[in-house]
Amino acid sequence: MSNADVRAVMRIESLSFTTSWPASAFQSELNDNKLAYYFVGREPSDSEADVVAYGGIWVILDDAHITTIAVHPDRRGHRYGEQMLVHLLHESIARGASWITLEARESNEVAQNLYRKYGFATIATRRAYYSDNGENAVVMWAGNLRGELYAQRLAALEHALDATLTAEDR
Ligand SMILES: CC(C)(COP(=O)(O)OP(=O)(O)OC[C@H]1O[C@@H](n2cnc3c(N)ncnc32)[C@H](O)[C@@H]1OP(=O)(O)O)[C@@H](O)C(=O)NCCC(=O)NCCS
Repeated sequence: MSNADVRAVMRIESLSFTTSWPASAFQSELNDNKLAYYFVGREPSDSEADVVAYGGIWVILDDAHITTIAVHPDRRGHRYGEQMLVHLLHESIARGASWITLEARESNEVAQNLYRKYGFATIATRRAYYSDNGENAVVMWAGNLRGELYAQRLAALEHALDATLTAEDR
């Protein structure tokens, strides 16, 4: 993600979250936070309007934290979220993380399904974490990202993902 992408990201952000980040939060993550890495997923034509997904991580020593991930509502269910998560996992591993964590709304079954598929387990509940409606957050966690077991799981899931994407292209 670059500063030029923030406008397109904000369109998706406001359609995806009840309490959305302001553009300044993305700009500060991109320009000031040395621990932050943000990415966009585009549809083939490569223009700003074609950003369909984005996601971000912080990597602090061997811990990674997924700060956000979203797909444009019109483009959900086409594996963009999964591709973004795979990318965030690889970036985390490449930058030295062994563990990865995130918070999700307790009611957000779609996101939790995606994370569980990639080996995340719920390790805690943060009561009334979301100030807009007092909803609990579930804290999810996966690791050891650098271990053989996780590497095999990730490779198998990516293989299946590639096969699905190839089949959809036909
Ligand atoms: C969560 C989100 C990123 C998923 O992206 P997506 O592109 O729609 O999802 P994908 O097509 O990549 O699906 C991948 C997996 O997600 C889960 N999933 C996706 N859509 C689902 C649905 N309608 N119901 C249940 N699970 C679903 C499944 O586990 C699916 O894998 P499977 O089909 O093999 O079981 C997207 O729904 C989104 O942007 N939601 C709003 C923002 C948000 O909640 N972000 C997460 C904050 S913690």
